[in-house]
Amino acid sequence: MTKNEFITASEKVLMNTYKRVPVVFVEGKDCTLIDSEGKKYLDMVGGLAASGMGHSPDFLVEAIHKQATQLMHVTNYYWNEPQYDLAKLLVDHSFADKVFFCNSGAEANEAAIKLARIYGYKKFDKPKSEIITVSESFHGRTLGTLSATANENYRVGYKPLPGGFKEVPFNDVKALEEAISENTCAIMFEPLQGEGGLTPATQEFVDKVKELAQKHEILIVLDEIQCGFGRTGTMFAYEQYDLKPDIMSLAKTMAGGFPIGAIVATERVAEAWQPGDHGTTFGGNPLACAAGVATVKEIINRKIPEKAKKDGAYLHEKLQKLMEKYAFVTKIKGKGFMIGLELAFPGNEVVEKAFQKGLVINCTSGNVLRFVPPMVITREEIDEFINILDSVFKEMK
Ligand SMILES: Cc1ncc(COP(=O)(O)O)c(C=O)c1O
Repeated sequence: MTKNEFITASEKVLMNTYKRVPVVFVEGKDCTLIDSEGKKYLDMVGGLAASGMGHSPDFLVEAIHKQATQLMHVTNYYWNEPQYDLAKLLVDHSFADKVFFCNSGAEANEAAIKLARIYGYKKFDKPKSEIITVSESFHGRTLGTLSATANENYRVGYKPLPGGFKEVPFNDVKALEEAISENTCAIMFEPLQGEGGLTPATQEFVDKVKELAQKHEILIVLDEIQCGFGRTGTMFAYEQYDLKPDIMSLAKTMAGGFPIGAIVATERVAEAWQPGDHGTTFGGNPLACAAGVATVKEIINRKIPEKAKKDGAYLHEKLQKLMEKYAFVTKIKGKGFMIGLELAFPGNEVVEKAFQKGLVINCTSGNVLRFVPPMVITREEIDEFINILDSVFKEMK
C-alpha cells in the first residue's frame, strides 16, 4: 500500500473526529519522528505533551517489557505492586496524601469533579455541588468535562450537558468573587492553560482563590494534566504560586506516553470516598503503573524540572529574538517547555510549512503556535527548531 492508499483505507474504517496531517508515523526516538517514507521530523508536539521523556526511551521500553512479561492486569479488587509504587512517588513529590488512578485526562477530571461533589455532599448539610471554572479552560471531552471546559466550540451539538458549573473570565478576581455562592463546592482551573493558548494564572487570581476557598470552605481543584511533571520548571506548576490545592488531576507525561490518568488529593478530601463510590476496570493497572513508575523516577533522577526551567529559558530567549525580527509575532506565552508564540494571523499556514521542512508543531486558539516538546530535547535540537521556524517565518507575507 502507498501512503495515500493507506490513508484512504484508514478513512474508511476510522471515525472522522480528527483533522489529520497526511503523514503516517512509524517510528520515534527521543525528539525525532520518522514517517512511513523514511523522512525524519523534529517533534515539538511530543504527543501533545504526553511523550514527555521522548519517544520510546530505553528505560520505558525495558520497564514495560519487564512488567508485561510478569503481570499486565488485575482488577482493583486486589492490590498490585506498581500501583503502590506510583502512588507513593506521587504522594512523596506533591502536596497530596492519596491517589486514585484512571486511564486518561478527561477521566481524571471526571474523578476530580465527583470527589469534589461527594466531599461537599458528605461534609455539609446544605447542597454544595457547584464548580466554578474559568474561560478558555480545557478539561476533556466527556460530557462532564465538557461542562467544565468553558469553551463553546467543544460543546456544539452535545447539549444538554450536565449542569452545576459556573464560568468566570480567567484571572478576573472580581468575577470570581461574585460567582461564589452557598452552593459552590470547588474552583477548578489549569495553572497554565494548554489548549486555551498558554495563559498562566496570575498570582493575584491564585491569591483570591486561596482567600475565597478558605473563607467559604471551597475546594481548590487544579488540572495539571498538561503542565505537570516538570514541564513549567517545577515538578508541578502550583509550586510556583505558594498554593496548596485539595485535588489535582494528572495524565499525559505521567507514563511517558502509555495511557494513564490520576487524581491526587489531601487525606481530608480523599476520605469522602468509600468502597463503591467510584471505580474503573483498567485504572491503576500494573502495566500502566510500571510505565508511570519508570517515567516519574526518570523525571526526578534526571532533574527534568530544572532542565525545563533552564533550557526553557534558552528556548524563550531564542523565540524572543524571532519576535524582534518578525512584526507578526505579537507575544511569547507560557514557560519552561510549555511555550506559545502568538501570531497576528491564524497559525495553520506556519504549521503546514514547518511540516514540509521536517518540523512538527501545532497551533492552539487559532493563532498561538504551541511548543510542548519531549523535555529531553537538546540545545542543538532547540537551535535546529529555531532555524527551521525562522526559515518558515521568512516565507510568510
Ligand atoms: C489541561 C488538560 N486537561 C484535560 C485534558 C484531557 O485529557 P485526555 O485527552 O487524556 O482526556 C487535556 C488534554 O489535552 C488537557 O490539556
